[in-house]
Amino acid sequence: MYNFLVKDTTIENADMIIVPLFEDNLNFRDEEINRKLKRLERRELFNGDFGEILNITGVKDEIQNIIFLGLGEDEKLNKERLRRVFGKVQKYIESLKGKKIFIEFVKSKNISIEDSVRAMIEGLSLSNYKFNKYKSDREKIDETDVSITIGGHNLEHKDYSDIVEESKILVETVFNARDLVNEPSNVIYPETLAEEAVKFSKRYGFEIEIINHKKIEELQMNSFLAVGKSSIHKPKVIVMRYFGDKDNLDQKLGLIGKGLTYDSGGYSLKPSNSMVDMKSDMGGAATVIGAISAIAKRKLKINVVAVVAACENVIGNEAYKPGDIISSMAGKNIEILNTDAEGRLTMIDAVTYAIREEHITEIIDVATLTGAALVALGNDVTAVVTNNDSFYKELEKAFTSTGEKMWNLPNFDDYKTLIKSDIADLKNTGGRYGGTITAGLFVGEFVENKPWLHLDIAGPAYITVPWDYCPKGGTGAGVRTLYELAKNRSEDR
Ligand code: BES
Ligand code: MG
Ligand code: ZN
Repeated sequence: MYNFLVKDTTIENADMIIVPLFEDNLNFRDEEINRKLKRLERRELFNGDFGEILNITGVKDEIQNIIFLGLGEDEKLNKERLRRVFGKVQKYIESLKGKKIFIEFVKSKNISIEDSVRAMIEGLSLSNYKFNKYKSDREKIDETDVSITIGGHNLEHKDYSDIVEESKILVETVFNARDLVNEPSNVIYPETLAEEAVKFSKRYGFEIEIINHKKIEELQMNSFLAVGKSSIHKPKVIVMRYFGDKDNLDQKLGLIGKGLTYDSGGYSLKPSNSMVDMKSDMGGAATVIGAISAIAKRKLKINVVAVVAACENVIGNEAYKPGDIISSMAGKNIEILNTDAEGRLTMIDAVTYAIREEHITEIIDVATLTGAALVALGNDVTAVVTNNDSFYKELEKAFTSTGEKMWNLPNFDDYKTLIKSDIADLKNTGGRYGGTITAGLFVGEFVENKPWLHLDIAGPAYITVPWDYCPKGGTGAGVRTLYELAKNRSEDR
């Protein structure tokens, strides 16, 4: 991760400078650079269009590279566009091997100074992620040598170190989530996922409890147990607690993350192609672990309990089968139509556990639950199902700020008839049509009327085509938005 200094200084012995410019105002305060800029403008080599990047050398002796970065129109700029454009320019920092970098701070009409600082740091840093530990010939870049100064007179003369610190923690916890997702299933299985969570609990300051197989049986989390039964890797329930609002311990936000460390589909086996990336089926777990880490480290005034029911869905002697009828911690019986619809079976017991044993009062569940979410919304939008409009509004405020895309799906009562079974209480699939909604509502059957948001991150959790500040692989989707929601609440207290 880069070192950042944010200060109202001017350029001091930098080897690279980045000059962000609005399209209708191609001016910079340095005479030489400005003359160069005017020549480029006359020759129509640089116009300041959004996302336009031009690198020039040899303008000033000590500065090896000057990078002009187009911001487009000030009116249209927002935090997310800033993150993206700085995510893009990070690739230049990397390939041109900048070491001492000066970036002129972007003062935009619509963005506060603080938010602008945050967005610049996030874009530059989130883009700068690699999962290359298994490449034995990897290049070791010592990033502690790369220092980035965000400066210029548009900053106020004050201390920005706490904002820098907050942004760094968010980036770090997003990276932790990405790492967890990118690790293959022979490395991350329930036990090792739990071990990683224990490490994070120490580093970020939250309580943790790992519930083992025997206790899970005693709790009668039978729906969850059915899914994990045939794996040699025994299931674990990972419970993470952070109580930052001790005066209001009767209010606890539950974060439930799907923790399938591998999903082969079970006897309803997935085709080979669909199986390749299923190490990522613990993306929801990674998200809630990342979020509670950031929330705890920043000591937000909120009580959060995160629960992950971690297991592996594989084939074997003991595996559950299509046609089986299984029970659940809440006592409802479920007819299994498809063993590949396993996520919801693990989620419902995690939800029941969190309500009955941890006494959570609100629920956000996060899961790579359905391929149908990709069919409906594409690869980078989180599908939401909820029973509470004002809770959704809170989420919307948070994701509008973080730039993570989410969409609320309809939840008409009639959908519920699709998951009623003829011979048991529920069946575990409602068919192909409306698959994301019926999967969400299946989980919703277990929330005991508590305010509830269901986030299906099957698309955004893991990507094969990178975008501006998100390399391919695990993305850490949802971490920043859950943190933002918690922070908004913390500030309202
Ligand atoms: N883990 C998958 C969902 C998934 C698909 C995540 C693609 C990421 C990318 C989930 O367990 C699953 O297999 N769902 C089934 C449900 C169906 C059998 C009702 C699906 O989406 O096909
Ligand atoms: Mg599945
Ligand atoms: Zn799955």
